[in-house]
Amino acid sequence: MDVCAVVMAAGEGKRMNTRHSKVAQWAAGRPIILWVAKALHGVGAKEQVYIVGHKQEEVRAVLGEDVAFVLQEKQLGTGHAVMQATPFLEGRNGCTIVLPGDAPLITSETLRAAIELFEKGDYAAVVVSAIADDPTGYGRLVRDPDGNVTRIVEDRDATDEEKQIKEINSSFYCFRTPLLISALGRIGAQNAQKEYYLPDTIEILISDGHKFGAYIAPFDETRGVNDRIELQQAGKILNRKICARHMKNGVEIIDTETTWIDDTVEIGKDSVLLPGTILRGNTKIGEDCLIGENTRIEDSIVLDGTTVENSVLRTCVVGKNCRIGPFSHIRPDSVLGDNITIGAYVEVKNSTVGDYSRARHLTYIGDAQVGKNVNFGCGTVTCNYDGLDKSACIIRDNVFIGGNSNLISPVTLNENSYIAAGSTITDDVPELSLAIARAQQINKDNWVVKKDRLRSSKLIQPDRRRGGI
Ligand code: UD1
Ligand code: CA
Repeated sequence: MDVCAVVMAAGEGKRMNTRHSKVAQWAAGRPIILWVAKALHGVGAKEQVYIVGHKQEEVRAVLGEDVAFVLQEKQLGTGHAVMQATPFLEGRNGCTIVLPGDAPLITSETLRAAIELFEKGDYAAVVVSAIADDPTGYGRLVRDPDGNVTRIVEDRDATDEEKQIKEINSSFYCFRTPLLISALGRIGAQNAQKEYYLPDTIEILISDGHKFGAYIAPFDETRGVNDRIELQQAGKILNRKICARHMKNGVEIIDTETTWIDDTVEIGKDSVLLPGTILRGNTKIGEDCLIGENTRIEDSIVLDGTTVENSVLRTCVVGKNCRIGPFSHIRPDSVLGDNITIGAYVEVKNSTVGDYSRARHLTYIGDAQVGKNVNFGCGTVTCNYDGLDKSACIIRDNVFIGGNSNLISPVTLNENSYIAAGSTITDDVPELSLAIARAQQINKDNWVVKKDRLRSSKLIQPDRRRGGI
């Protein structure tokens, strides 16, 4: 069967109270319209048309070049939105699935099941419905005493009795394409919002003598996102599903409420994610890793057996059995080997670091090529920027750098050399040598007494905060 898809994404989304497009808002690591697009992808629709209007540039940017867009200049309702796609649909015979751009929890399975029901049952249209504990805000399916759907009534237009109905319209539909076009031409806007409602096509099709069906899906899949509370709820549900998938694959997640994993992330068996872990984009975590607490890793690869605690990693590679953190920042284009230690307040940027090297505390490694088994003393700084250009620092295997050393780049520290603590290194250091680059110390005898600078033995208490905190 010829399947086309029309996605409604032009609405203003007033209830979201944002300057941006509602459907471009993010839930669980991607814009909500892309969740809809992902579910649609699994259906195999030949032609896909996205109806855009309000903040259309944002929606187009999110969806990219591969889909077709149709402009709905004035947002006069969901029926009016689909009308804009008629030039695409005319002359087609199969089915048109209509999707709301603001319902990110729908799955391909449910869409396929609805299409299957549609195909089997000789229907003019099938709607995906759901039974909601709290149906407030949704359109309701009105059924006659025999259980046949007779129409869909919007929440705002519903009588008190109709508001008691718990079966809601998800706004996902399957229409026989020529019948959809015919019904769209006949809907009016005589309702509370003075809009052209797509659900009004149902009553028209039924009065034309056609059959109309409903596929009842789990409510969670049909949730629409209209405001920030629903956005947060949808994000939580999506994230819980992603966490569940990883747990089934053998990943231990201590707290799925505070662990956020993008749909695109891969994690190996027996890795443990502690609370506050955020894994984003094209991140791959190996097996037996320990990540967290409070760690964000974006577009990075972390190999087996590595620990990352309280740290931020972006677009980098970390080898096997490394220990990163607490409080490390690994910035883009850094490649760390195996068995490396990067500790507290250490930042690495655009650098390679060889196996078994260590920078345990307070160090900046920028634009550097670091060999194997290098020791960075506490407070080592590669001075890579002169205000105009960035320069490279080359540190070869087995170099030992004493604490509080400045390495003024470009500079090379050759194999097996030592840097004395407190040095400011401006020249290359030959292999097997010790470089000392600091001022000679002078001790002035009895200076404290001569200058009357003896410190009082009265100890000062730290200030206490008000309120007993
Ligand atoms: C709609 C349905 C309601 C259903 C609910 C499910 C109508 C009239 N109501 O209500 O029965 O229970 O979805 O979530 O269809 N849009 C446009 N152009 C417009 C108006 C809307 O493209 O002129 C798009 C919006 O961007 C959105 C989608 O259509 O993605 C739904 O619109 P929205 O205003 O959110 O409809 P609801 O009030 O939620
Ligand atoms: Ca909606």
